[in-house]
Amino acid sequence: SFPKQVRIVEVGPRDGLQNESTVSASDKVTLINMLSAAGHSYIESGAFVSPKWVPQMADSADVFSSITRKAGVTYAALTPNLKGYEAAKAVAATEVAIFGAASEAFSQKNINCSISESLARFAPVMDAAKADGIKVRGYVSCVVGCPYQGDVAPTDVARVAKALLDMGCYEISLGDTIGVGTPDKVNAMLDAVLAVVPADKLAVHFHDTYGQALTNIYVALSRGIAVIDSAVAGLGGCPYAAGASGNVASEDVVYLLNGLGISHGIDLTALAQAGWFITDKLGKQPSSKVGLALKAK
Ligand code: HMG
Ligand code: MG
Repeated sequence: SFPKQVRIVEVGPRDGLQNESTVSASDKVTLINMLSAAGHSYIESGAFVSPKWVPQMADSADVFSSITRKAGVTYAALTPNLKGYEAAKAVAATEVAIFGAASEAFSQKNINCSISESLARFAPVMDAAKADGIKVRGYVSCVVGCPYQGDVAPTDVARVAKALLDMGCYEISLGDTIGVGTPDKVNAMLDAVLAVVPADKLAVHFHDTYGQALTNIYVALSRGIAVIDSAVAGLGGCPYAAGASGNVASEDVVYLLNGLGISHGIDLTALAQAGWFITDKLGKQPSSKVGLALKAK
């Protein structure tokens, strides 16, 4: 059954901007402050990863040090290893996230190691975070398809999701990294995952490459999943998949939730304005249909 309330995890400043041309740290800070003002309670604000791999996130420490912290808002960071964790902790990231994949090939291309090696690398991050009282979110990429190996077995997704849960992640975000999912595939994947991880520990993270994200979110909502990752203005792409587009747009998710009478705490107009701000800086239009429609009004 459908949840009455949903938490939106805003990943635009991280997943979105890691795949756009570089914007200044001060513009990132303005964006993050606009997102918190719009009512977002969870903003993934940067990543402490190798600057050689993802130069767009190299200024994450500056960003975290300069945002205006709003009470009750979680400012999260991606941390692939202990080095990243220590850097995130040093600038008081509220939470961190580790990121694995259900596909061996993607794991190698994204974080330069196998799935089992990645889990071993995450262990010291989990230990340190536990000692520091910092919550850790876990991502699984390629949950319905991989740019290198093609199909991904639902059982592989379930295995990695369960491993991250058992390691101590409080929530597992299921990523359709390249946006290839359709409802039947998503349902089959969720059948396998829900057999080992309860719905209240799951989030969904759809990229919108083929325009299926909202439909797939509707499927996830119908399965009782109440946490949705999205990016303002549909920012982003995927460096490892030519033609892949950004995350589902936060504005479009909010419009859907409004129509379904599901509460989320976000002001759509203020959110759309944040989208216009950042796309203006990037010299492009929002990828959000709702953002464009409101802009034309
Ligand atoms: P590696 O080369 O195997 O690591 O990379 P290493 O430990 O051998 O280190 C190599 C160099 O990186 C060294 O520097 C380290 O100091 C440095 P050098 O001696 O060459 O000058 N280094 C770091 N620097 C800063 N912060 C760190 C860090 N760690 C090492 N934390 C590594 C392994 C994981 C570091 C690398 O592959 C990496 O940074 N990958 C990140 C890739 C990434 O950020 N991808 C995008 C995010 S995931 C995503 O978007 C999917 C998601 O949205 C869900 C979905 O859509 O499915 C989450
Ligand atoms: Mg992503």
